[in-house]
Amino acid sequence: MNKLSSHPRLDWLDYSQVRPYVFVREDLRVQNPGSLFKDNINWFDDVEPLWFNPLHQKQVEYSNLILNLEAKAFAASGLGMDRWVFYDCAVMPGFVAGFAHKTETLPQFMKDALGVDEIKREWTPISLFIVIPTMKPGEWFAHNLCSVNSLLDRKDKFYGLGFLTKAFGLWYANIANCCGATQWKSPAVRLHALYGDFELLTTYTPTHSYSKTITYRLDVKPQRWEKFFWPEPSDTFEEKFIKTGLQINPEDESNLIHWQNELEEKKGPFYLRSHEILSAPLSGPYNIYSPKAGS
Ligand SMILES: CC(C)(COP(=O)(O)OP(=O)(O)OC[C@H]1O[C@@H](n2cnc3c(N)ncnc32)[C@H](O)[C@@H]1OP(=O)(O)O)[C@@H](O)C(=O)NCCC(=O)NCCS
Repeated sequence: MNKLSSHPRLDWLDYSQVRPYVFVREDLRVQNPGSLFKDNINWFDDVEPLWFNPLHQKQVEYSNLILNLEAKAFAASGLGMDRWVFYDCAVMPGFVAGFAHKTETLPQFMKDALGVDEIKREWTPISLFIVIPTMKPGEWFAHNLCSVNSLLDRKDKFYGLGFLTKAFGLWYANIANCCGATQWKSPAVRLHALYGDFELLTTYTPTHSYSKTITYRLDVKPQRWEKFFWPEPSDTFEEKFIKTGLQINPEDESNLIHWQNELEEKKGPFYLRSHEILSAPLSGPYNIYSPKAGS
């Protein structure tokens, strides 16, 4: 397994300055972080994440910083969350995590992007991942992912911050089965598809604020995560999945509805291949795969 520190674009990842944080109430703290994937990934073995209790009054400033980041990251899409949504649908039932930067050394361009100057906290959150349990045992729903990178010039970005943020959360909370919703053509699709087998649950979703939303389910496979930084086709993908010869076209609403009809008629399951998504334009089209018989 490649070491993250060996990647030329991950020079920002100095754990003395940039640390994962966990923002969960005390009784929801994970007992054995990362134990489910201990044989699959070692990225976070040597770092002690920060922990803050969101139910404590003195952490309100940290909540404010998270909400400020989130509001700015989602301003363009209009999908920012209200304060009560953060509390009712994230802090109370779920798991909130991300990366924080030492405030003392927080680059001025990040302060400018976040619109904050006087930060009284030792650490400033620069990314956010929220995941909440569903009623199905073992199944989670990824409710939020954002990073300060979305507010920065390309030259200033901490490459991989968004990807590592979700990776850390899945790893730390031992999540093997994770659903999520994202918009076709969002750059986030490239990230989400990398975390494991990427099954389409809806391709057209009128109940969401945006109908052109994908709902997906990930069978989480940390052994594939390094392909985000060192891209190569997954060895195992073709053992398990077969190309249907058909494609889905995010540019064409009628095509998204066609695939949604197929799913509703139980013609699936259908999968996308992460390696293809990473190198294709955000507009697709993408090949549709089916599991091989017996896999
Ligand atoms: C989506 C988001 C979380 C990605 O995090 P990030 O820190 O910007 O991305 P990372 O550095 O981890 O990954 C970079 C890779 O992601 C993809 N990517 C990220 N932003 C992209 C963009 N604007 N256009 C195209 N690809 C993009 C690319 O593959 C990129 O790699 P490349 O530069 O080699 O092409 C972040 O951009 C964000 O907060 N966006 C606003 C909120 C949002 O839409 N969240 C997703 C909700 S599902």
